[in-house]
Formats: sequence, structure tokens, C-alpha cells
Amino acid sequence: RLQDNAAQELAGLNIVITAGPTREALDPVRYISNHSSGKMGFAIAHAARRAGATVTLICGPVNLPTPAHCTRVDVTSAEEMLAAAEQHMPNCDIFISTAAVADYRAATVADNKIKKSSDELTLTFIKNPDILATIAARPDAPFTVGFAAESQHVEAYAKDKMKRKRLDMIAANDITREGLGFNSDNNALHVFWDGGDEALPEGSKQALATSLLQRVAAQYNNKKS
Ligand code: CTP
Ligand code: CA
Repeated sequence: RLQDNAAQELAGLNIVITAGPTREALDPVRYISNHSSGKMGFAIAHAARRAGATVTLICGPVNLPTPAHCTRVDVTSAEEMLAAAEQHMPNCDIFISTAAVADYRAATVADNKIKKSSDELTLTFIKNPDILATIAARPDAPFTVGFAAESQHVEAYAKDKMKRKRLDMIAANDITREGLGFNSDNNALHVFWDGGDEALPEGSKQALATSLLQRVAAQYNNKKS
């Protein structure tokens, strides 16, 4: 049995978390992706489990150990991540989308290795599905939490994303801040919800995950009642 001092604020709830990058194939040996480490999502999974939740962690290619007592589902592309998320939606209470989903994928994946020929190579990309917005639009949508990594107009862009994607909450981080965010161990978040916001000061991703989940639990209970 899991036993520690964390408040069991999420006891009995099913939480699905996406984490890490997605990887979009170009040909049998190449892909495009991004530098997401998955650390924030894994920290949230760990903290959610400690707070009593049943946790499913859907992750793209990451190099991290699975947090204890969490169910891990490994995927590669955005389309696979969406399928896995949808498959876990029945009975999901809270969906937390930390994944750095590739916004685009190659319009066609070459069957064979692309050969080097002319001096320039042009590839056509098409938009990937928005996993979070798709989940939030379901008739049985869980409580949804998004992330927004922004390099400018952080508050305005984050609030706009929350509205457009019909989210219950969004956690914004300013990627221009030195040593924070994408691939580091520390982060700082500003959380917004309908009618409120709170700045969670710089700290380890693990500490931030715990305080973020306290706000999630509060707003989840608020929405329920
Ligand atoms: N997200 C998602 N599926 C996508 C793109 C984003 O689920 N195809 C989720 C991310 O996990 C994050 C939130 O949407 O929780 C915002 O992602 P972000 O990249 O900041 O926003 P975009 O809507 O992709 O807009 P842009 O990249 O242009 O800022
Ligand atoms: Ca994006």
C-alpha cells in the first residue's frame, strides 16, 4: 500500500496525463520531434499517485523511469497519443495535457529512405489533431487541464488557449525565463481558471506538480459541487 504524508486530495479519482514529445516519421529512418523531456508530466503523475489518484501516463518517447504505481502507455506519434487518450476516456475524471505534441506531421511518410539529391529539400506538413481540444469537446469530457509554453504575452495567450480549447484550467510557463521549462528540472507556472488565477513560484518540477494538483483538486471539487 502506498503510504506517505501527502494529503489524499485526489483519492479515488482516475487521472490521465499525457507527457513528453511526440515523434512524427518522415521516412523509415527519420522523424521530427522536439526537446520535451517529459519531466513535468512524470512529476505530476508521481504527485497525483501520492495524492491518492489512479494514474495513467500516456507518453511519447522519453527517457524516464515510470513513477511507482502508475500505468504507463507508450506511444510515438500525435495520432497514436490521441487514440490512447480516447481509449482511456471512459471513467476518466481529470485529464492533464503536458505533452509537447508536434503541431504538424509529414503529409506523406515516404515508404523508402529519402535519397539526397538537390541542394534544397521541401517537405509538406499537415496539422496534427489537437488531443486536448478533442478530449475537452467530448460529451463525457473530464475536468481538463492544459499547459501553455509561451515566449510572449503569456497571460493573454494562455487564457485564449483555455477558452478556445474549452479547458477548465491552464498552466502557463514563460519559456524565456532562464533555466526554466522545457528540458530543465525547475519550472514556474501561472495557473488560470474561470474566475481566478495563481502564480506558483519557481521550484522543482516535483514541488510545482504538488502545488498544481492542489489547485486542480480545488477547482475540480468546485465544479462538481
Ligand atoms: N496540445 C495537444 N495536442 C496538440 C497540440 C497541443 O493536446 N496537437 C495541448 C498541449 O499538451 C498543451 C496545450 O494543448 O496542454 C497547449 O499546447 P501549445 O503547444 O501551447 O498550444 P497550441 O494550441 O499547439 O498552439 P501554439 O503551439 O501555436 O502556441
Ligand atoms: Ca503547439
